[in-house]
Amino acid sequence: MNSQVANLVLVLVIIQVSRKLDLENPDVITYVRIGYVTVQALTLSLCYFIATRIKKINDTTEIKYVEPAKPFTNESPQVVETTVRDYDLGKTMDLFKQTCTSVLIMLIIHLYFGFTQPLFIQSILPLKSVYQNQMVQIHLLGKKAEGELNRPFKNPSPFGWLLEAQQPQTDKASIKKASKASKSKDD
Ligand SMILES: *[C@@H]1O[C@H](CO)[C@@H](O)[C@H](O)[C@H]1NC(C)=O
Repeated sequence: MNSQVANLVLVLVIIQVSRKLDLENPDVITYVRIGYVTVQALTLSLCYFIATRIKKINDTTEIKYVEPAKPFTNESPQVVETTVRDYDLGKTMDLFKQTCTSVLIMLIIHLYFGFTQPLFIQSILPLKSVYQNQMVQIHLLGKKAEGELNRPFKNPSPFGWLLEAQQPQTDKASIKKASKASKSKDD
């Protein structure tokens, strides 16, 4: 099943479950808060643990690819030269930042606007994306960096199955073309 469809189904199921909960009851709210904080704290510690592993493994194998321009911008594709270590640290940092951003938003929604249901949803939904995160798959679950886990990773499509995302190119011709284009722009 498409991952976006799976997410949608999961959200609907979680919403149904949350309807059975008395989210006005202070005791229930306390449990939901504890659950939420636990899941976020686990995710952030996981990032820290994975980053420590990446630094220890210190894989300096080079990765070179063309990162396509962001959709709806005038930017041109960028040639990226990095190492497995730095690439992985970047991806781990992305997960860390995403988690922090979502916690900030949730703090506002829950503490300022008083909604508890989103807190409940965000205690369960991230478990799936954390489990599917490439860094967790490689560095925690010990999966080989092949196929879907081959670096550079595919960009997720922003609009689900409606639109294909632009993917990083690793072939020599694309790299040459993009580096030429950026050079002529600098001149
Ligand atoms: C990682 O490897 C590089 C090159 O092999 C080396 O220069 C560097 O000191 C190593 N760093 C650590 C923290 O081991």
